[in-house]
Amino acid sequence: MRAIMLHEPGDPANLEWTEVGDPVAGPGEVLVEVAATAVNRADLLQRRGKYAPPPGASDILGLECSGTIAELGEGVTGWQVGDEVCALLSGGGYAQRVAVPAGQLLPVPGEVELVAAAALPEVACTVWSNVVSLAHLAEGETLLVHGGAGGIGTHAIQVGKALGATVAVTAGSDERAEACRQLGADLAINYRTQDFAEVVRTELGGADVILDNMGAAYLERNLSALATGGRLVVIGMQGGTTTELNLGALIAKRASIAATTLRARPAEEKAAIVAEVRDQLWPLVEQNRVRPVIDQVLPLSRAADAHRMLEQGGVFGKLLLTAR
Ligand SMILES: NC(=O)c1ccc[n+]([C@@H]2O[C@H](COP(=O)([O-])OP(=O)(O)OC[C@H]3O[C@@H](n4cnc5c(N)ncnc54)[C@H](OP(=O)(O)O)[C@@H]3O)[C@@H](O)[C@H]2O)c1
Repeated sequence: MRAIMLHEPGDPANLEWTEVGDPVAGPGEVLVEVAATAVNRADLLQRRGKYAPPPGASDILGLECSGTIAELGEGVTGWQVGDEVCALLSGGGYAQRVAVPAGQLLPVPGEVELVAAAALPEVACTVWSNVVSLAHLAEGETLLVHGGAGGIGTHAIQVGKALGATVAVTAGSDERAEACRQLGADLAINYRTQDFAEVVRTELGGADVILDNMGAAYLERNLSALATGGRLVVIGMQGGTTTELNLGALIAKRASIAATTLRARPAEEKAAIVAEVRDQLWPLVEQNRVRPVIDQVLPLSRAADAHRMLEQGGVFGKLLLTAR
């Protein structure tokens, strides 16, 4: 098969579309003939040598894919050769074939096309496990999503609205803020020109749940934007890892902070998240209330260009790469 190989960490130009050996489906795994994969921010870090794959994972980039089951490994039940699926991966998606633990497979939902389904697993599992399972966003509450125009953000807007929440987002320009409103956001704040904490407090009385990609740079303002009893979930560190925390501000609001990562979780935890997504989120996708948001689809051989595009900014939703 062909895959994108990274011969040494560095620039996008180091990504090479080349011939490699096929993966093998071990016990409990299936072999997927990849239709498409997606570019994630973690891929950019891994390419630069700053995010090693977890032990046992493929060293090929790619955290999600869609495709067709080509082979079943020993002991796999509930799936057939030929089934169209999408999958959460620990790595290996930038390739024509990938071996996946069966617990990380999802059926292609509703009217979603096979290629488009590659836009779903990573955002669906991240948003559902953090916003719903961990932070317990409830109907009538307010959700603040940072980076509303990104892959995670465009999905979180739709999930928040489908669950009956008021959704506020931050975005890097008025145009991107408007695109978030078109997708359903009730309030979209240009983080370059406005103080999001002040706007969320004055317009909405604070946020019950915040999904944060900025880490240290936003901790203080996130605490100030939280409502009493609010839950801040940090999933990204685009604004750094280290800062001071005012516990007084946390206690006064009876608020909580969590920080999580999906990729490093053991396979059983990933399978539990995937099962919850299939049970609870997939019906919303079947009903077209949550859809993949895709900026562009490029061939996998152009992975380097896709990395440059994500690094430059301006992508709305997800960038997909087709494997054939
Ligand atoms: N922990 C986990 O398990 C997990 C899983 C998946 C993703 N993540 C993380 O979640 C974050 C979002 O992922 P993604 O796939 O959506 O990436 P993405 O599509 O590249 O989006 C990144 C977003 O960051 C926004 N941003 C940049 N500077 C900002 C600022 N100062 N304030 C607010 N937003 C800002 C961008 O907004 P504009 O473009 O509008 O400026 C963009 O929407 C990343 O940090 C990623 O690593 C974590």
